[in-house]
Amino acid sequence: MLNTEFVCQKHLDYCVAQATQTLAQLPDNSLIPRNIPPDEKKWNLVDYEDWTSGFWPGILWQLYEYTNDVAWKSKAEHYSQLLIPLSGRPAIDHDIGFQVYNSIGHGHRLTKNSAYKEILLKSAHSLADLFNPKVGTILSWPVMVEKMNWPHNTIIDNMINLELLFWAGRNGGSRALHDIAVKHAETTMNNHFREDCTTYHVVVYDPLTGKKIKGVTHQGYADDSLWARGQAWAIYGFTMVYRETDDARFLDFAQKVTDVYLERLPKDRIPYWDFDAPDILKQPRDASAAAATASALLELSAYVPDAEKAAYYRDQAVKMIQVLSTEAFQSRNQNSAFLLHSTGHYPNGSEIDYAIIYADYYYLEALLRLHKLQNKQAKD
Ligand code: GLY
Repeated sequence: MLNTEFVCQKHLDYCVAQATQTLAQLPDNSLIPRNIPPDEKKWNLVDYEDWTSGFWPGILWQLYEYTNDVAWKSKAEHYSQLLIPLSGRPAIDHDIGFQVYNSIGHGHRLTKNSAYKEILLKSAHSLADLFNPKVGTILSWPVMVEKMNWPHNTIIDNMINLELLFWAGRNGGSRALHDIAVKHAETTMNNHFREDCTTYHVVVYDPLTGKKIKGVTHQGYADDSLWARGQAWAIYGFTMVYRETDDARFLDFAQKVTDVYLERLPKDRIPYWDFDAPDILKQPRDASAAAATASALLELSAYVPDAEKAAYYRDQAVKMIQVLSTEAFQSRNQNSAFLLHSTGHYPNGSEIDYAIIYADYYYLEALLRLHKLQNKQAKD
């Protein structure tokens, strides 16, 4: 049974109110909100090229889904349109999935607009062009080939973008797209994790032999540390791959990567940005990792056959959402984001303890998933 005391509607209405304020703040409708520094009020804006550009239109689509109000649809359409140039050129990196699927993917799901379908299919094919069959994964960051001397590199975040390939494989794209996504997930499962099922951020491969060279970090504390959002991407990614493949290996693995994350969380279930950072109690949190994990656990709990374990995952997800919905994490007294306290790229000194748009996106997704579960339970 779900914890029914938590009233999603109140928090979804909060998201509506906050997003309404953000819209009023946006200057000319051509730029997209990305982050707000601590104690500031105004969003820093980016253009469609930024890896986070899909999350704001994705939020708008989900608010349309929640409210059924065409005013949100019209805003979602507008901000989705800004991303169209991404599908008219070869993918620069794996982020095309985050950009296009988390925005126009919702647009297509909710409207069935055939123009959106074309954009998604083109984007999926261009993402697939980064696949190296010798390695069995997508080259996540072409720019790092020279810059870091990482001749073929795959990052754990890339798991999320397999969803675009699976979708395209089911919706008129080449069947190879599905096979590439499965192969990428298998190779990642075999090479990206330590004995204890914690993930490396980056794995570097030899592009000619396909051999793994090393596991390293880019956004984590150390090569061997557990970067919180990386593990969140793994939890979300393998849960989604199980949904798309029905292959029990992925369900089993999704649970393994989840269990180690849950075991190592602090009491309030919101991770510090890296589980292994020194002097951990003084480190900034990453609410974005908590939000993505909460959303993923609601999905995972629906697939796990062991009723007790399923209830455990659901309960953990609800508790994470509850903590994110407390004053300590909500932005309402400071700015118009939904959540405070995310960490983008600590080693770079960027977005430390910020409000960040993808935290809001996954928080809203988690609230909507919980809301649907509660509604279903009320009807059953
Ligand atoms: N995908 C980039 C990040 O999680 O920061």
